[in-house]
Amino acid sequence: MTEVGIDAIEIWTGKLKLDLPNTFAPAKGEDPEKYTKGLGLNASSFPDTYEDIVTMGANAAHRLMEHEGLEPEDIGRIDVATESSFDNSKPVSTYIAGCLEGVYDGKFSHANKGERKFACVAGTQSIDDAYNWIKAGRNRGRSALVIATDTALYARNDPGEATQGAGAVAMLISEDPELVSLSTEQGYGSADETDFLKPNQQFPSVDGKRSVQVYLARMREALEDFEGVAGRARTEDFAYIPFHTPFPGMVRKAALFGYRRMIRDTQQEEELADEIGRQPREEAFGVSGQGPESSGTESHADEEAYEEALNEYMDGLKRTDAYQEWYGRVIDPTLTISREVGNWYTGSVHLARTSALRTAFEEDRDLAGERLLVGSYGSGAQAEIHAETVQDTWERKIADLTIDQQIEDRYDLSYEEYERVHDVHNHDIESDLDQGEIEQFTDPHGEFVFDGWGR
Ligand code: HMG
Repeated sequence: MTEVGIDAIEIWTGKLKLDLPNTFAPAKGEDPEKYTKGLGLNASSFPDTYEDIVTMGANAAHRLMEHEGLEPEDIGRIDVATESSFDNSKPVSTYIAGCLEGVYDGKFSHANKGERKFACVAGTQSIDDAYNWIKAGRNRGRSALVIATDTALYARNDPGEATQGAGAVAMLISEDPELVSLSTEQGYGSADETDFLKPNQQFPSVDGKRSVQVYLARMREALEDFEGVAGRARTEDFAYIPFHTPFPGMVRKAALFGYRRMIRDTQQEEELADEIGRQPREEAFGVSGQGPESSGTESHADEEAYEEALNEYMDGLKRTDAYQEWYGRVIDPTLTISREVGNWYTGSVHLARTSALRTAFEEDRDLAGERLLVGSYGSGAQAEIHAETVQDTWERKIADLTIDQQIEDRYDLSYEEYERVHDVHNHDIESDLDQGEIEQFTDPHGEFVFDGWGR
């Protein structure tokens, strides 16, 4: 059967940088280590004042098409995944296609264009749509362009403010892919949740602490569902496990629960069960305690004792040499880009995969035939887990990525500049962009820019 998967990938970061320990922390009166050690973030990317989800998406897609030598007629489908859309009717893919048609002779006249929304998991859902379209034989030999583009901004002084980010990931989904092929097996964990949402509003309403618990619960369910169809997942089965990364500290938690489930150390689990007087199996790779995941039958005191024992157990597991070695080899390499750019919402898990492959490339590791377990997540809430197989030609597709240089080249904002840029991107504040009076911090070169709606 023909393999389908990601043939090529390109990344475009917003061109501004907010330094969290050196700029954000002092302005907020916080300890810098809350960001670097607690959340695991060094910086966030921001769009310059002439950048938005269309320009970032179009620039990533253009770079991808140039690198792959593609023309518009090679593309049969363009899907944009975003939760930062500004148009409730016309999909962002049409704006991006319009930009690209300005630099190619051909048109995307016969490409099916759409926009996918389910918070951060929509990027993976768009890949699934493209996969299904190709597998169904409807693609007529053409490829799909999937673009995950977001400006992940929070209201100022929201606890989520430290986890902002902006950028786009463009991916080519094809038959006989040269980067990774996708498994037919998928697992889902899905429930109606209201911890992170934007009903008719620009910035999210977030119950941050609960959102962490919901992420873990849905991810646990997705892994169970995946194992139900693909068989047991073991730690040794996967070279890397890229997770959706709102901030690396979130992945630290998810990885520990995932590890516990994957090793299923029955002796340790029995010792824990003896200690806490009941079987903790239902919490493996998930949440415990109050809230919708709790059985509701425990007394408060019982629940506290239970929580304490379970936390001690998880802390002990985290300190084992085996866990530390696995985490350093399988998880940590997925976080290197995210640490410098923050949350890109729909693009985030695709940055995590790229980060891992890039590390393997730099270490000259032979990855062909190895498997990845990809954990995508979107608030609202849904997790999806699937496996991918690295292709023989993967290095060629990773070698030319310029993300390190892009990260290095960003303009480093002062806190006052950050506040002004945040205001420019805040649609609720009137901007003087159309009058051409707005400042910009970097100079665009040979790229798509937003120069106002008055064009
Ligand atoms: P907060 O209240 O600012 O931070 O909010 P905190 O006090 O909880 O501290 C964070 C961590 O830093 C903690 O570590 C602290 O102990 C540690 P933990 O206990 O969790 O391991 N810490 C320190 N460490 C070292 N030195 C210090 C120090 N101080 C504290 N001095 C919160 C954190 C995540 C709630 C906030 O950032 C937030 O609301 N973020 C936005 C929501 C979010 O990202 N949720 C993640 C799951 S939901 C998701 O991923 C979906 C999403 O991407 C959206 C979508 O799908 O569309 C968000």
